[in-house]
Amino acid sequence: MKKIKLAGILTGVLLACGAYAGTPPEVKFDQGADLSQFLRSAVDQAIPPPARLAPEPDKPVWISVFNEDIKQLDGKFSFKDREAMIQSQSASVFKVNASELGSLSEIMHRKLHKCGGFFTHSSPESAAKDLSPAPAAAAPAYTIDRRDQVLALLKLSEEKGITDTITSLSAYKNRYYTSQTGVDSAKWLQAYWSKLAAGRSDISVEAYKHANWAQQSVILTVKGTAEPQNIVVLGGHLDSISRGGDSADAHGADDNASGIAALTEAIRVIVASGYRPSKTLKFMGYAAEEVGLRGSQDIAGAFKRDGAQVEGVIQFDMTNFNGSAEDIFLIADNTNAAQNAFLGGLVKAYTDYRLGETKCGYACSDHASWTKNGYAASFPFESKFGEDNPNIHTPKDTLAQSGGRSLHAFKFAKLAIAYLVETAK
Ligand code: BES
Ligand code: ZN
Repeated sequence: MKKIKLAGILTGVLLACGAYAGTPPEVKFDQGADLSQFLRSAVDQAIPPPARLAPEPDKPVWISVFNEDIKQLDGKFSFKDREAMIQSQSASVFKVNASELGSLSEIMHRKLHKCGGFFTHSSPESAAKDLSPAPAAAAPAYTIDRRDQVLALLKLSEEKGITDTITSLSAYKNRYYTSQTGVDSAKWLQAYWSKLAAGRSDISVEAYKHANWAQQSVILTVKGTAEPQNIVVLGGHLDSISRGGDSADAHGADDNASGIAALTEAIRVIVASGYRPSKTLKFMGYAAEEVGLRGSQDIAGAFKRDGAQVEGVIQFDMTNFNGSAEDIFLIADNTNAAQNAFLGGLVKAYTDYRLGETKCGYACSDHASWTKNGYAASFPFESKFGEDNPNIHTPKDTLAQSGGRSLHAFKFAKLAIAYLVETAK
């Protein structure tokens, strides 16, 4: 195996991508992950660490990064003493400490808009799998022909349900993947979804436990009546982050209580209407997105290993900041073009929302975990990239910043409803 010295990459990202340091050079990672927390380890050294409930032990993790993206960093950075453990034509793997993940995430933060993405892995074997290109997703035939059913469900949807969920989730000090409040907030979501589904024997809610950190993911399943083996996934991350990790104020109202809230409203409407899908619907609240798409990678990887038939995946991450002229932007990279076109069709057929297209430029959210595993994933987003909520990953990401309302997120809840009816038929 060829070894390269990654002279400069991560520190470079630090300089390039840090919301807290330096001028951003052109950096672009288009797959997975996690760079933000290198910066934090420095901060952690300066500030005594808070009492941590169930921290990840300070053990090694492995990050995969695309060579294309490394190239763009072009020696401007120095990531001393780290060598790529494995390198292929397309990607490289580096070993870091789990305790560095929080700051890595911060570093690659969005402000710089050309930041890199990493996927974080718990073993070098898992990281090594990222070295081959993603398999192409199968293309289902997309049709829009359930108008009456979609309209009946849309009629039941309400802004209030969304506001309630955002209010509850953003009341936690943070939902960081290793903090007590991060653990509690995921359990709260499990209980809330369970309560919504009470009385429906075809709906179940489970905690999806992760081996390497305390926060669970949450999965609600509506079992398909005719083709239960065929699955449609609607997801968003339930964790939040801001500088300072476990002890930070990270209310994450927009990033991403708003996505979970849009999904929760769709669940509420399913139950209120008595709707039963032919295919199986799985609603997912992913843990640990903010430190390298880790929850969704565990789950999408397990689905792939089990040979699960996932027909489509939609990601809701940031839905309640109305920052651009258009209403809903389809993220064009790390997503499935055919399914994106279908989503555009749904917006036209069922709403009068203005549609835009934009790119993250890197694997910016959990859709990328599914894409990497060969599934068709899409990501409708709140604004043009770069005109999105400037307060995310800070203590100021609160519902008050959206005027205490969920008007923008409501559009995404409606899109989720149209999507699930027209895919799970
Ligand atoms: N919600 C963001 C992704 C995002 C931010 C998309 C701004 C578009 C515009 C997500 O929670 C996030 O913060 N992702 C990380 C990357 C991840 C791999 C750690 C990011 O963008 O820094
Ligand atoms: Zn985020």
